[in-house]
Order: sequence, then C-alpha cells, then structure tokens
Amino acid sequence: MLERLQQLEAAATAALEKVSDAATLEQFRIEYLGTKGQLKEAMGWLKDAPKEEKRELGQGLNALKQKVEAAFEEKKGQLGSAKPQAAGPLIDVTEPGEAPVMGRVHVIQQVLDELIEVFARMGFDVAEGPELEDEKHNFVSLNIPMEHPARDVNDNFYIDESHLLRTQTSTIQIRVMETTKPPIRIVAPGRVYRPDTHDATHSSMFHQIEGLYVDRNVTMVDLKTTLINFAHAFFGPDAEVRLRPSYFPFTEPSAEMDIKMKVRGQVQWIELGGCGMVDPAVFEAVGYDPDEWTGFAFGLGVERIAMRRYGIGDIRWLFENDVRFLKQF
Ligand code: DAH
Repeated sequence: MLERLQQLEAAATAALEKVSDAATLEQFRIEYLGTKGQLKEAMGWLKDAPKEEKRELGQGLNALKQKVEAAFEEKKGQLGSAKPQAAGPLIDVTEPGEAPVMGRVHVIQQVLDELIEVFARMGFDVAEGPELEDEKHNFVSLNIPMEHPARDVNDNFYIDESHLLRTQTSTIQIRVMETTKPPIRIVAPGRVYRPDTHDATHSSMFHQIEGLYVDRNVTMVDLKTTLINFAHAFFGPDAEVRLRPSYFPFTEPSAEMDIKMKVRGQVQWIELGGCGMVDPAVFEAVGYDPDEWTGFAFGLGVERIAMRRYGIGDIRWLFENDVRFLKQF
C-alpha cells in the first residue's frame, strides 16, 4: 500500500512538472485533485487496507494530498492563472470599446480644397511655389519697383539681404510663367507672411489663392465671368460680384473684388481680394510677348472666405489649434 502511495506521488510530481500552461494545469487538476481524480480514488484504498496499516496509510494519504495541492497552487501562481479560458488575451467582445481619436482636415484646408475644386471645374490646374522667396519673384518681376513701400524691410520677413517669406501668392504667377508656355490656366493656393500685429482680423501668416489665365484675346469680361461663376458655385446662386477700380503694380487695369452675400440674414458686400488684367511689364519680365499674350489674375484671401462663410469672429481662433473650436467644422 505504502509503495502505491509512493508511486502515486512520483506520478503526480512528474505530471505537474510537465505542466506548461493554464490548459495543461487544468488537466492536471482534474486528473489528480478533481472529484474523480487519482487522490480521491486513493482514499478508497483505506477501506481495503489491513487494520494495522490504516493509520499510517491515512496519514500518508493526507500528507500526499496536501503536498500535491501545495505544488498545484505554486504552479498556478507561476502561470498566473489556472483557468483555461485565461490562456488567450482577455477581451470582452461585448464591451462598447474605446473609439479611436480621429483627426480632421483643418477648416482652412477644407475651404482651400473646395475653392480648388470649383476652379478645377472651370479648367484651372493647381500650381505651387516656395514660401521662402527671392526679391525677383516677390517684387521685381511683379513690377514692384525698389522704392515701392511694399518692399520696406519693416513690412516684410526678410531672412537675409535678398530673401524673404513671400508676402503674396502672386509670386507663383511668375514661377509658372517662367517655366510654362501659354495658354495657362492655374490657381495657386498657399501661405503668405506679413509682420502685422495680431488682432481679430490680422495674422502674420495667412492663406491666399491666386488665379492666372493667359491666352490670346483675354478680356475683362473673361475675368468677371470667371469670378461670377466662382461666386455662384461657392456662395450660391444669389451671390453677386462687384469690381471696384484699384491699383496693383502687376495688373492694369486693377480692381478690388467684392461679393454680395447673406451673412446671418444680412446682405453685405464683402471684399475678398484683388484682380485685374496682367500688366504687359509682367509679361516682359517672364519673356512673353505682350503684343501676343493677354491675361487676367486674381488673389483671394482664404481666411476671409472661411470666416464669412462660418461666421468666425476672430482670425486667431483659426491658428490657436484648440480642437474644441476646430472640431466644429
Ligand atoms: N497679391 C495681392 C495682395 O496680396 C492680391 C492680388 C491683386 C493678386 C491683384 C492678383 C491681382 O493676382 O491681380 O494684396
């Protein structure tokens, strides 16, 4: 009898040694410690044992049971948990889960994308240019002479003698014409920089979208038609366009462009930017024959458009990057 006890102990010890995960541990528990397990069965030996052995066998069985239970608990602790269902990762598929934080397109980029889309439908391609510019592209080729007040160092972010952060996307007109032969039909979105003191309507960085159309026999009618089509597509069929005479060095004649639209129930004229017929001096600067080529250009302020459209009262809100604000658009 005692010999069988020793065999059982050896078998249990060997079996437990082989246990390597929660599932095999559970098998071990059923095999040795379960209600129909080997230790339970061994308890049955007692009733068949000779009387004089009963006491010693009983003590031996109890000691073995304790030993196996202790070894089992220790193994369980090593493995973390004895429950077989705990073998895999603990995922409750009925939990609602954590929604991933989704980013979104900035309201200015949304407006730009829409503007590009509207002009693309009229056949305009998209062009880009560098934000760090030289004087030739920001001023000289745009017919802005040395003594022009716009070139004052205090009104520009110069980074050295002859390079500055561009103050207007009109620079891209020059870059496109330098590298392309007419006809040209492009819009050029981008950031521009001016050392303005920040307030509700001024920011030292803002966005413009430039337009340039060069072909033979382009007239002011083409310019106004394009702007009206844009206004209707973007602001709705009731929008009206007004051109007020103005001056820009790179267009002749030049105009300010206003759009009549309803802002929160009130009809207003809103100034959106400048436009005009490309000045012959600009064509000469890029090597085009001004007797052959004609064109129009325009430059619109993107923040102004976005602010009017969504009733945003302060330009600074657009760049503070408070997601509670940006989430609304
Ligand atoms: N570049 C001008 C500005 O920043 C806007 C502008 C006016 C652009 C007339 C044009 C234009 O293309 O024809 O104030």
